[in-house]
Amino acid sequence: MKFETIATQGYTDLKKQNHAISMPIYATTAYSFDSVEHAVNLFDLKVEGDIYSRLTNPSNEMIEKRIAALEGGVGALAVSSGQSAILIAILNIAQCGDEVVTSSKIYGGTYNLFAKTFQQMGINVKFIDSDNIEDYENAITNKTKCIYAESIGNPSIKVADIENLAKLAHKHGVPLIIDNTVATPYLLRPFDFGADIVVHSTTKYLSGHGNAMGGCIVDSGKFDWRKNDKFKMLTTPDESYHGIIYTEAFKEAAYIAKSRTHLIRDLGCCMSPFNAYLTMLGLETLHVRMDRHCENAKKLVEHLAKHPHINFVTYPNYEGSKDYELAKKYLPKGASSLIGFGVDGDGIKFIEALKLFIHATNLGDVRSIITYPAGTTHRQLSDEQKIKAGITDDYMRASIGLENIDDIIEDIDNAIKISRK
Ligand SMILES: Cc1ncc(COP(=O)(O)O)c(C=O)c1O
Repeated sequence: MKFETIATQGYTDLKKQNHAISMPIYATTAYSFDSVEHAVNLFDLKVEGDIYSRLTNPSNEMIEKRIAALEGGVGALAVSSGQSAILIAILNIAQCGDEVVTSSKIYGGTYNLFAKTFQQMGINVKFIDSDNIEDYENAITNKTKCIYAESIGNPSIKVADIENLAKLAHKHGVPLIIDNTVATPYLLRPFDFGADIVVHSTTKYLSGHGNAMGGCIVDSGKFDWRKNDKFKMLTTPDESYHGIIYTEAFKEAAYIAKSRTHLIRDLGCCMSPFNAYLTMLGLETLHVRMDRHCENAKKLVEHLAKHPHINFVTYPNYEGSKDYELAKKYLPKGASSLIGFGVDGDGIKFIEALKLFIHATNLGDVRSIITYPAGTTHRQLSDEQKIKAGITDDYMRASIGLENIDDIIEDIDNAIKISRK
């Protein structure tokens, strides 16, 4: 099946859901056992079935199967937010004393998780300021457990060179984890370029309507965890689960099985089935929305690039962009709808003059949303930290929605005028 068909109908078993054509919400915490023997077999993972919704839920399973198919993976785990997806994806293979290598130009929430919370847990994350693959290689040691990158960075809007990062990771016997939130599998499938694990904040484009927090981890099933002795958590008995050896019991789906049976069991950050339902509604139109998101963003970028009072525009998919070649390779269908630009005027006046753009911190919504990082989310950073994060005082980050492009352009033009009075 092609992408659009999977997005709208993939893995729906109408008989199993009482012929309801819209995905049912299984609002239940627990499931009855047929007998004690049935319960024992479920707990021993000898038969498939549900025990308790922290671990599995039929609504969540539907969204997991569909996202896994869209990304081309062997399995997925739906969780409560993008942050939980990133937390679990890394804790599934790293523990105290281990290291992770990543870019310094990643989402601020992830940066904090890595720089503060992981540090408190004894996991040392090394941040690379440049785009140079050699700098990544120099940061790798025998304690490194993965390379982590965003396919399109937020708010930097940088495109990751996934193929070369994957080659580097594999050369050193570790997986590449890609946050594919901004690109979505419709525009880019990281597994096609060698990535091993994908994480999503489904809060953004996948659900798409700004109404459901959620996250997802997808396993490509291609990384061989047994190749070296770095991943004992997967290749030796897990005493917390009857001594199970994930790579033996679950073969190529070992990573995603462990994230569920071990981490979601212990940490508890599962997706609510109601949010799985809202996310499924969004997924069914992902391809249609992404085409329009990309088209509107590109038209606005072309307009801003010629505007006399715009200092710069950041968007990978236009000639003159630093990442144009990478965008041509990795994002031929479009570069999503996250754009950055610098206004030659008063930033606060600009933001407050916008009527159609909503001033909020979200992206991937059907509505156009703008944030002013230097005045809000990145206000506490030093000048040096702001430069490292790619944030200047005039930098505006916008997520372009599905409104009529003429109205979007008019709103921005009007606010620029007011910002200069
Ligand atoms: C690229 C990226 N990854 C992860 C997250 C975190 O997702 P959530 O807000 O669903 O926890 C965000 C949030 O903005 C994001 O932009």
